[in-house]
Amino acid sequence: MEKMQRPVYILGIESSCDDTGAAVLADDKLLANIVANQEIHRKWGGVVPELASRAHQQNIIPVVEAALHEAKISKADLAAIAYTRGPGLPGSLLVGGSFAKGMATALGIPLIGVNHMQAHILAHFIREDRPIPEFPFLCLTVSGGHTQIVRVDGPLVMTILGETQDDAAGEAFDKAAKIMGLPYPGGPIVDQLAQTGDPHRFVFPEPKAEGFNFSFSGLKTSFLYLIKKEEKLDPEFLMKHKEDLAASLQFTIVKILINKLLAASNATGIKRIALSGGVSANSGLRRAIEGLSTEGYETFIPPFAYCTDNAAMIGITGWFAYQKGIRSEITESSQARLPF
Ligand code: KG4
Ligand code: ZN
Repeated sequence: MEKMQRPVYILGIESSCDDTGAAVLADDKLLANIVANQEIHRKWGGVVPELASRAHQQNIIPVVEAALHEAKISKADLAAIAYTRGPGLPGSLLVGGSFAKGMATALGIPLIGVNHMQAHILAHFIREDRPIPEFPFLCLTVSGGHTQIVRVDGPLVMTILGETQDDAAGEAFDKAAKIMGLPYPGGPIVDQLAQTGDPHRFVFPEPKAEGFNFSFSGLKTSFLYLIKKEEKLDPEFLMKHKEDLAASLQFTIVKILINKLLAASNATGIKRIALSGGVSANSGLRRAIEGLSTEGYETFIPPFAYCTDNAAMIGITGWFAYQKGIRSEITESSQARLPF
């Protein structure tokens, strides 16, 4: 009888921003994915780094214990610990990184430092009942901190073709939402409001950015100026038009993203397109990407749970690195601006 091979169990730890996550994978299959969201930032209108580090410190042990419990394995079964080494907030990264090092040392197992942006992309490879992109493909990674078009030639072979020169796409949503007086993070609320608004009611100028790069800071400024100008004529303008403002803003952001993505696809001849990062939860962007599949593109959109920050994506990246024999030094440090 053929001997069953024991799976490689990887613990993934994510703490780059304001979500504390732990996940357990058996090879490329997900057994548990726990995320503790930090509500504390809501009342401050954005992530407060100092408060984020403290909350990570409170959450990290319960989150890891919950993941192991849900996966029904013990610490002794783990083959390696993968953690987010960067990019991210320095204080937040330090909490997850220090915890991962301590646990890996205590268990005598390898430590694997993971790039958070690569992990967002590799979330597509968590094995489930859905198609997985073949190589090469282009990935549009859109989050609160980053906006990138990446050429992916292998699990850990990635090239950034373009990225934002200032604000990220998620930041553009969140900052515009803040101007509208909406709580943080405003992206999902703008998405909600946009459902019943007219996307062509207001027109915002498209930014100029070289090549496949992006720029979103001008959009926030023209959004603010439009509201200020109109409020001089009608103090109730914002309240009366919030749906149309949200829909027009979303339409503009999605158009900017899709135009650059298509330009990158034309230039590389790659028609396989994937979406990742927190903003891929946006319904307008999902619709636009899905629409491309009727125009000869092969498109891949991850399930909601893998769009926003999570540790499952760190675990799958760790699994790929583990297979390749990649191990981190215990002396390595977290890097707020970790390159690919
Ligand atoms: O990837 P993520 O969870 O964290 C970062 O690494 O930044 O992304 C969070 C970002 C926030 O800016 C949030 O407003 C945005 O994703 N976001 C959305 C939606 N859901 C989350 N933006 C627009 N529409 C949404 N439905
Ligand atoms: Zn992220």
